[in-house]
Amino acid sequence: MSVTHTYTLANGYKIPVVGFGTWQSKDGEEAYNSVKWALESGYRHIDTAEAYGNEDSIGRAIKDSGIARKDLFITTKLWGTNSYEEASAALEKSLKDLQVDYVDLFLIHWPNPKAFRPDFVTRNANIWKAMEDGVKAGKVHSIGVSNFHERHLLPLLEVAEIKPVVNQILVNPSDQQLDIVEFNKAHDILTEAYSPLGTGKIFGVKELQDLAKKYGKSVAQIVLNWQLEKGYLPLPKSIHAERIAQNVDIFDFKLEADDIERIDGLHGKAGLAKNPDEVDF
Ligand SMILES: NC(=O)c1ccc[n+]([C@@H]2O[C@H](COP(=O)([O-])OP(=O)(O)OC[C@H]3O[C@@H](n4cnc5c(N)ncnc54)[C@H](OP(=O)(O)O)[C@@H]3O)[C@@H](O)[C@H]2O)c1
Repeated sequence: MSVTHTYTLANGYKIPVVGFGTWQSKDGEEAYNSVKWALESGYRHIDTAEAYGNEDSIGRAIKDSGIARKDLFITTKLWGTNSYEEASAALEKSLKDLQVDYVDLFLIHWPNPKAFRPDFVTRNANIWKAMEDGVKAGKVHSIGVSNFHERHLLPLLEVAEIKPVVNQILVNPSDQQLDIVEFNKAHDILTEAYSPLGTGKIFGVKELQDLAKKYGKSVAQIVLNWQLEKGYLPLPKSIHAERIAQNVDIFDFKLEADDIERIDGLHGKAGLAKNPDEVDF
């Protein structure tokens, strides 16, 4: 396996097994350089979102790389939209900022934002329709969701003409959200693992430091290798060239079964995922 190895989504599109995260990469040189370094290190899958406020810097880095569009996989996400019209307009803005004719994957960022909480089911159905029309117009290849639990996915699956093929959720050794992972699997939905390094908190876990010593690897490499072993699609983020390269130098070792089990047992050691029905945004 390598960084350009792919999983196949339920709709037949291929998706590189590691994506590059860009949340909290500041718009401007920081986001531009990190994506530039990621592409130079071999990543071909970039994860961004309207809410990250850095799509234009990412678009510039992609364009300047000279890499053919067909060889890249670009994901973006819808944030505070509540209607068909708002979602359609948000897609147009993302395409313009990213300087692309289509995105590979378009996600609903959160299922139940505070402002729409009384009626999230209708809100999600309305914006899903706009996403489906984006697919029909050739502006999007695949559509999916993020931070959805079974109670959010079930009503969406009832009205979806085009099924979600991805659910991007927080997954790292400290919170593996196995109930959602199992639900995803049962519905042919790929689990993308966001915050695979616990937004930096995973580095303080003693058991992982010990494993890093044992294998002569970094904690990040141990955790990302474990993610792939589990069949997840990790999205590590960094703004440092050396770490960006290190986070895809993860294919030349195999964790022993006992060590995988040890990592499976680290629940809660570096924080838990947020409950989407209680988030304050
Ligand atoms: N859908 C959602 O709601 C959602 C939510 C959160 C995240 N995401 C996606 O998932 C991506 C990753 O999650 P995340 O941003 O929370 O963080 P993460 O990838 O779990 O961790 C990133 C943190 O770890 C540090 N780091 C990265 N590689 C390292 C290494 N090899 N050695 C030491 N430190 C290292 C980074 O520092 P430096 O940057 O300073 O190097 C940063 O502080 C996001 O960027 C975003 O694309 C999605």
